[in-house]
Amino acid sequence: MSTADRQHWRIERDAERIVWLWADKADASANVLSSEVLRELDGHLTTIRTEAPRGLVVLSAKKSGFIAGADIKEFTRIQGEDSGYQLIHAGQAVLDRLAALPFPTVAALHGFALGGGLELALACRYRIAVGDERLALGLPEVQLGIHPGFGGTVRSVQLIGVKAAMRLMLTGKPVRAEEALRLGLVDRLVTVEDLRAEARRLILEPPAPHRAPLLERMLSWAPLRPWVQPSLTAQVASKVRRDQYPAPYAIIELWSRYGAHGAAAFEAEARSIARLFVSESARGLIRVFLLQDRLKALAGKSPAPLERVHVIGAGVMGGDIAAWAALRGCRVTLQDSDAARIEPAIARAQELFEKRLRDARKISAAAQRLSADPEGRTLGEADVVIEAIVEDLDAKRTLLEQIEPRVRPDTLIATNTSSIDIGALGTGLERPERLVGLHFFNPVAQMPLVEIVTAPGSGAPAVQAATAFARKLEKLPLPCRSAPGFVVNRVLMPYLQEAMRAAAEGVPLEVIDAAAVAFGMPMGPVELADVVGLDVAAHVGAIVAQGLGRPAPDLEPLRERIAAGKLGRKSGSGFYPWREGKAVKAPVSGTAPVDLSDRLILILLNECAACLREGIAADADLIDAAVIFGTGFAPFRGGPFAYARARGINAVVERLESLAQRHGARFEPDGGWALLASGAAGAQSVPTPPEQPVKS
Ligand code: NAI
Repeated sequence: MSTADRQHWRIERDAERIVWLWADKADASANVLSSEVLRELDGHLTTIRTEAPRGLVVLSAKKSGFIAGADIKEFTRIQGEDSGYQLIHAGQAVLDRLAALPFPTVAALHGFALGGGLELALACRYRIAVGDERLALGLPEVQLGIHPGFGGTVRSVQLIGVKAAMRLMLTGKPVRAEEALRLGLVDRLVTVEDLRAEARRLILEPPAPHRAPLLERMLSWAPLRPWVQPSLTAQVASKVRRDQYPAPYAIIELWSRYGAHGAAAFEAEARSIARLFVSESARGLIRVFLLQDRLKALAGKSPAPLERVHVIGAGVMGGDIAAWAALRGCRVTLQDSDAARIEPAIARAQELFEKRLRDARKISAAAQRLSADPEGRTLGEADVVIEAIVEDLDAKRTLLEQIEPRVRPDTLIATNTSSIDIGALGTGLERPERLVGLHFFNPVAQMPLVEIVTAPGSGAPAVQAATAFARKLEKLPLPCRSAPGFVVNRVLMPYLQEAMRAAAEGVPLEVIDAAAVAFGMPMGPVELADVVGLDVAAHVGAIVAQGLGRPAPDLEPLRERIAAGKLGRKSGSGFYPWREGKAVKAPVSGTAPVDLSDRLILILLNECAACLREGIAADADLIDAAVIFGTGFAPFRGGPFAYARARGINAVVERLESLAQRHGARFEPDGGWALLASGAAGAQSVPTPPEQPVKS
């Protein structure tokens, strides 16, 4: 090997003839198994094998953890099944060589070992890990629409048995230290100081390698597999559809045909993942992953600390934002017009801490970070102030004017308004450039997106601090321009209103929702309106229409229910009755009207095109990201524009034209489509699925 080939691994040989192979990918803070990293590993393994050492220990030189997985960017360059197969086959071959070494091999893990990283560890004879709270071992490939491809579907079952391995692969969720030990995924848990000593001990006195218990191994025998397989398939089928998310079904099928046994099982794994790579599902989900990375990278660096947070308005949003910030380590004070209004928010925060933290000491520490401050005495100490009072321009403007003289000059002043123009809110401020919208979504703990809303006068330091703060809270910042509805509410409104129209035409609510779910939405628009709250939906709908100078939407169906106290989930009844947090629906009967799905989805897409044309967010990818992370838009489709590209922009435009003829001018294709078709919609930073016929 030339020196150029040796940039990602370091090799150390000691007096006891143990080889220590350190993963240390060049110019990266975390290790990933790119083709280059694997090729270099292959060279090392060939050399090490001929040296015939006492044993080999594979470990990571990075602080962050062992190996985070394969290099996902490489997946986007896969053109067809053949090239996907070549990529996977080459990786499998390297790990096969590792597994076949005739001396003891140990993977010494710390932090994370995920995807290909865990598969590499599975190819070693033993695994030990630093058993602290950071340890996360998992096979999350299914979240990218694929499955393990470097032998993981086979070796995981062999090591820990079918039930545990399926749980790892089908959910994609990592396991923590204690569970990893209990499952036999690692042989021992150690402290960081003992990692090397324990690895050495395993090499010098190698015990019999761990295998799944006999009963578990029996489940993989050919006569028993047909008995186990239906329950696995049923579990998956209760969550996702095969045509939208084929990967978990493929995992079960591989096992059910080959029983995690023999060369054929590895070959089938490679063939299967190669097919998945080119599926709409994997292309879409990989895109979602890369979009998420892009939003994370948008976070600015704030010169000031963002530790102390003061939230004004302890209602649904303010209370939950305060709780979330305390959970994420900020010291938070919460203000409202009187202490009694703050108490329910603090009680809700306690529930959140208990649910998320579990450990009593951490729960109490989080609770101590959150306190009531009805008079705003701590305003002067705050790094960030978030206004979350009622949605009323005058009330908000007055409050912001009162806040400004009481905070430090470098304090970020933010508003959680969902519909009021940021410029208008800042008119009474001495320095309006420090005001930014931090638009969280409801429920705060579950929604990953925060729109960072700016007016023409918003200053760069405030925007930077706002994006940095969103990341500190582990949310995804989406910079956008202050315009009615910003991005997410703007595109949601026509979608919800189209659902209301269909309902008014007599289409049963359940049928409307089923059409959206069949497209891949996490829930239908009627149910979504109930979740958002009919009062909130009516208010935002009216404001967005007014702001855009459009005819007022028909809000009668909402108003009737609001007048009857039916506000949706929060009041126990809206369009649907709600029991224990779930909408009670009648079984879907009859078929959906022929245009229904396209009416719902394409009107949303058309609004995305309008946002693009108006530059509400900087480019098409950001709009896709906003709609995916702000509404849950069918993840396997990769976002509204990715879906439109896959269907063909011209086909979408033609379909809109025909819908406009049949259903009205609201479907007239927006001028934004021409921008998209001409490629003037901003650089495409994240690949989209290639154009292909897609079922609508
Ligand atoms: P809410 O009505 O639940 O809470 C508002 C709170 O502000 C009340 O507790 C009220 O006592 C308090 N308040 C009113 N004036 C005050 C003042 N001058 N000083 C101190 N406290 C005052 O309202 P919600 O739903 O939490 O909304 C708050 C903001 O968040 C609004 O701007 C809304 O548009 C926005 N928002 C709401 C979402 C939702 O789904 N509810 C989603 C995203 C944003």
